Amino acid sequence: MATTLTPVLSAGWDTDRSWTLAAYEASGGYAGLRKALTMAPADIVTTVKDSGLRGRGGAGFPTGMKWSFLPAPDGGPRYLVVNADESEPGTCKDIPLMMASPQHLIEGVAITSFAIGCHHAFIYLRGEVVHVYRRLLRAVEEAYAAGYLGKNILGSGYDLEVTVHAGAGAYICGEETALLDSLEGLRGQPRLKPPFPAVAGLYARPTVVNNVESIASVPSIVKNGSDWFKQMGTERSAGFGLFSLSGHVTRPGQYEAPLGITLRELLDMAGGIREGHELKFWTPGGSSTPIFTAEHLDVPLDYESVGAAGSMLGTRALQIFDETTSVVRAVSRWIQFYKHESCGKCTPCREGTFWLAQVLARLERGQGTSDDIDLLLDLCDNILGRAFCALGDGATSPVTSAIKYFRDEFEAGTHTPADVLFPPERSSLF
Ligand code: NAI
Repeated sequence: MATTLTPVLSAGWDTDRSWTLAAYEASGGYAGLRKALTMAPADIVTTVKDSGLRGRGGAGFPTGMKWSFLPAPDGGPRYLVVNADESEPGTCKDIPLMMASPQHLIEGVAITSFAIGCHHAFIYLRGEVVHVYRRLLRAVEEAYAAGYLGKNILGSGYDLEVTVHAGAGAYICGEETALLDSLEGLRGQPRLKPPFPAVAGLYARPTVVNNVESIASVPSIVKNGSDWFKQMGTERSAGFGLFSLSGHVTRPGQYEAPLGITLRELLDMAGGIREGHELKFWTPGGSSTPIFTAEHLDVPLDYESVGAAGSMLGTRALQIFDETTSVVRAVSRWIQFYKHESCGKCTPCREGTFWLAQVLARLERGQGTSDDIDLLLDLCDNILGRAFCALGDGATSPVTSAIKYFRDEFEAGTHTPADVLFPPERSSLF
C-alpha cells in the first residue's frame, strides 16, 4: 500500500493567518501543554523516550534519551536551547515551520522546559532570516500575553522565560557547541566533546540542545501518547517528518510523511521530475550526506535503510537534479560553501576544504590533471574523521560519493574544455 502524507506540524499551514496564536488555539493548540502541566516531569521524559522520537536536526540522536542525560538537579540553572540555525544547503524545513506555525515550537519549548526543569529557554535563530526573527518575537509575545509563558504558566506555579536570539549568519553556529559559544557572546567555534552540552552546555550548566522540528513534535506526542507516534514510521525510525523536495521536481515543497517513505513515493506526490527530464542524482539529507542516484529511488527514507545504502538521512532535504546538471559543478558549488563557512579552528577542515575547492574548480574548467581524482580522494581521506566537528566530515560526503557514481564526469574535467562541459543552455540550477 502506498504511503500517505501525515500532516501534523504542517496541518494548519493553509489556514488564514496560520501563524497567529488564535489560529493555533482554534486547531487544538496548547492542549499538549495543558496535559503536560498535570503530569510529573519525569513522565513526560518517559513518554518522549517511549515514542522513539529521534533528533530531527540531522543526527537522529534519541530525543528523550538526550533529556535523560541531564544530571540530577543541584539547585543551579539548566537550559533548553533550540537550534534554529538552519543553514545546510538544501535544508529548508525549520524556517517554513517557524513562519507558518511558530506556536508549535513555542508550545514544545514550554513542555520540554517543564519536563527538564528549565526556567529560561533560548531559541537561537540563523541571523539572515530577519522575517522569521520578527515572526518568532511576535509569537513569543502572544504566548506570554496568553499565559503560556512567563510567571505561573496556566496557574501551575511553573515559570519560564524564553529568549529569541538571532545569530550573525555563520553555518558553523548550527554546530551545537559553536552555537553555545555564540550565544555566550564568544566567536562561534566548536568545543571539544565530551563533555556534551547535557553535562556542561550554556554557561557550563546542563543544557539540552534540540532542533526546531524535534521540539515542535513534542506537543503532539504528549497530547496523543507515545503509541500514536510509534505507529507511524518504522520500528527504529518512528513517527513523521518534514521532507523538503527542491530542485528539478514539478511541485517542490514540504511533504510531511512517515519516516520510511521512499523518494519514488514522494515524487509521485510531487508530480515527478520536471517534464521531459529524468532523475540523475539527489541528496537524501542536504549536501553533507552522500548523494544517491536513480538506483536508490526505492530506499526507505529512515535512518537505518539510508545508512545501509551508503548515505545518511540527515535533514531530509531532498535536492533533486536531472540529467542537465553537471555533478562536478554541483559538488564544486557545495565545496565552495564549506570552504567559505569553515571556521578555521582545525587544520584538516580549514586547509582541506580550501584545496578541495581549488581542485574542483580546475576540473570544472576542464583543466584538471590526471592525478586530480586521486588527489580529491586523498584530501577527503585526510579530512574525514580528523576534523574537529562534523563540518569537515560533511564536506567530504558529496565529493567521495559523486566520484563513486560519476567518475567519468570527473575524468572528463581533466581534458574537456569548459564550454563543452557546461554549455550555457544546460543546467538551470547552477
Ligand atoms: P552528533 O551525532 O555528534 O550529536 C547528535 C546529538 O546527540 C548532539 O546533540 C549531541 O550532544 C548528542 N549526543 C551524542 N552523543 C552523546 C552522548 N554520549 N551524551 C550526550 N549527548 C550525546 O552529531 P552533530 O555533530 O551534533 O550533528 C551532525 C548532523 O547535523 C549531521 O548528521 C547533519 O545531518 C546535521 N546538520 C544539520 C544542519 C542543519 O542546517 N539542520 C547543518 C549541518 C549539519
